[in-house]
Amino acid sequence: MTLEKDDTRGYLITFEGSEGSGKSTQISRIANRFEAAGYDTIVTREPGGTDLGEEIRHILKHGHSGNDMTPEAELLLFAASRAQLVREVIRPAVDSGKIVLCDRFMDSTTVYQGIGRKLQSGPVHVINTFAVGDTMPDVTVVLDIPAEIGFERLRHRVSDLPDRMEQENIEFYRKVREGYLMLAKALPERFIIVDGTPDPDTIEERIWRELRNRVI
Ligand code: TMP
Repeated sequence: MTLEKDDTRGYLITFEGSEGSGKSTQISRIANRFEAAGYDTIVTREPGGTDLGEEIRHILKHGHSGNDMTPEAELLLFAASRAQLVREVIRPAVDSGKIVLCDRFMDSTTVYQGIGRKLQSGPVHVINTFAVGDTMPDVTVVLDIPAEIGFERLRHRVSDLPDRMEQENIEFYRKVREGYLMLAKALPERFIIVDGTPDPDTIEERIWRELRNRVI
């Protein structure tokens, strides 16, 4: 399916998946593909992507004050970072015809805070909608991996210690995975599920084939 849109507008393509699903690797590969195909492309991430958002990211992942953070406060901090990113970066880029590839977006909140932290879906939906306004993703790619594989990949990551969000147990990540699959089933027009377990070249090829069909 090719998305219907006016010719001057770009696209917002979001990438979702649990920890260790390989999103960052694939996002940079797909950005190269779009650039090589002649599309002006930017990559951004959540939480973060703006000065304010990166400060919020630090609080959420590594801040001292994060130890006693309530799920409600966590939800609002993710939403604050997103509200800033949408208006400062994503909206202007999409309006000027660019392809925006965003590492996580509102579906992370639905899944992690709504299903993972068990916050009520009504308020989560209202806050998500308030944060993004009418800037909805055109396409969302979910990199799907079993929670056990994500955990194993995190354990072998050489970079740094697990952050606050990465200290959850395997049950939490099983719920996250199921949450994404449920969302994708409910919104098949927007979601693409890609198996995140093969080698990176194979995954890239699959994502690119799907995106090319929809976007180019
Ligand atoms: P990451 O950028 O390394 O994936 O880390 C972001 C972490 O924050 C990850 O554990 C998922 C979590 N997260 C939420 O819980 N809710 C959200 O809305 C977003 C954007 C991320």
